[in-house]
Amino acid sequence: MDITQLVEEIAADMATRRERGQVADYIPPLAGVSDSKFGIAVVLEDGSVHTAGDAHEPFSIQSISKVFALTLALGTVGDQLWSRVGREPSGSAFNSIVQLERERGIPRNPFINAGAIVVTDVLLGHLEPREAIGQMLRFVRELAGDETIMIDSAVARAEEETGFTNMALGNYMRAFGNIQGEVAKVLGTYFHFCALSMSCRQLAMAGRYLMDSGQVEGRRIVTARRARRINALMMSCGHYDNSGDFAYRIGLPGKSGVGGGILCVAPGRASIAVWSPGLNASGNSHLGQAALEKLVQATGWSVF
Ligand code: DON
Repeated sequence: MDITQLVEEIAADMATRRERGQVADYIPPLAGVSDSKFGIAVVLEDGSVHTAGDAHEPFSIQSISKVFALTLALGTVGDQLWSRVGREPSGSAFNSIVQLERERGIPRNPFINAGAIVVTDVLLGHLEPREAIGQMLRFVRELAGDETIMIDSAVARAEEETGFTNMALGNYMRAFGNIQGEVAKVLGTYFHFCALSMSCRQLAMAGRYLMDSGQVEGRRIVTARRARRINALMMSCGHYDNSGDFAYRIGLPGKSGVGGGILCVAPGRASIAVWSPGLNASGNSHLGQAALEKLVQATGWSVF
């Protein structure tokens, strides 16, 4: 299988698609991104990197950062994390508050906003926001082997100015005792994680540890068991109320963000990132999913 040719073919096909979804418009830095963008990067188990389209252009990774935040939090507090956040798909929108009342402030999983806000609170357990943001930036740079990865401060600021729902989630969980720090600090840190700016290439490189049983180039990042478990959560919860459909169509662990990126893992085979800013109704990249579906059909990489 010639992966270089395959990703070129996929990018060429995506360029012809007219139905491209809706670009997120809740903050100006995202609303201004053209829906004509499409990028794909595939890093194979042998270390080779295959890219096409706008694979080198940084974009706002948004909720994909929830995977890296979860990895750091598990590294900090281990399985104690699961007393504060669940491991079940929510079946609800990414920023939904409704389940929190019935479930006493315990979010369904770490990949919805409420869950990631708890994860961020855990990371702030012994760190100041500036230190936790620095820890995250060092972590993704190390994973990707790329010191040029940055946080887009204009995105972080815009998130902060408009993040009323996220602040409501934080305050509501604080009322249940499931946020321990100062809500404004927790949210400020969470918004900086969402504002990480990475290209498909950088993201696919950063996902290698999930492809390779927790290792990158022989260095252990997490145990094989933890990598398997993070992948399981990405499969069951990585696309919010669209997670079942993603598993049905693509059959791989994946995590989306409203910037239009998806990080997708074919365990033992490939770490994949796609980017197209137009979103479906659940806030997941419309063409990103279509591209992954084509990739998986051609390669047989579904885990099923
Ligand atoms: O916190 C938010 O709502 C956004 N900064 C990120 C949400 C997101 O990426 C949801 N993903 N599809």
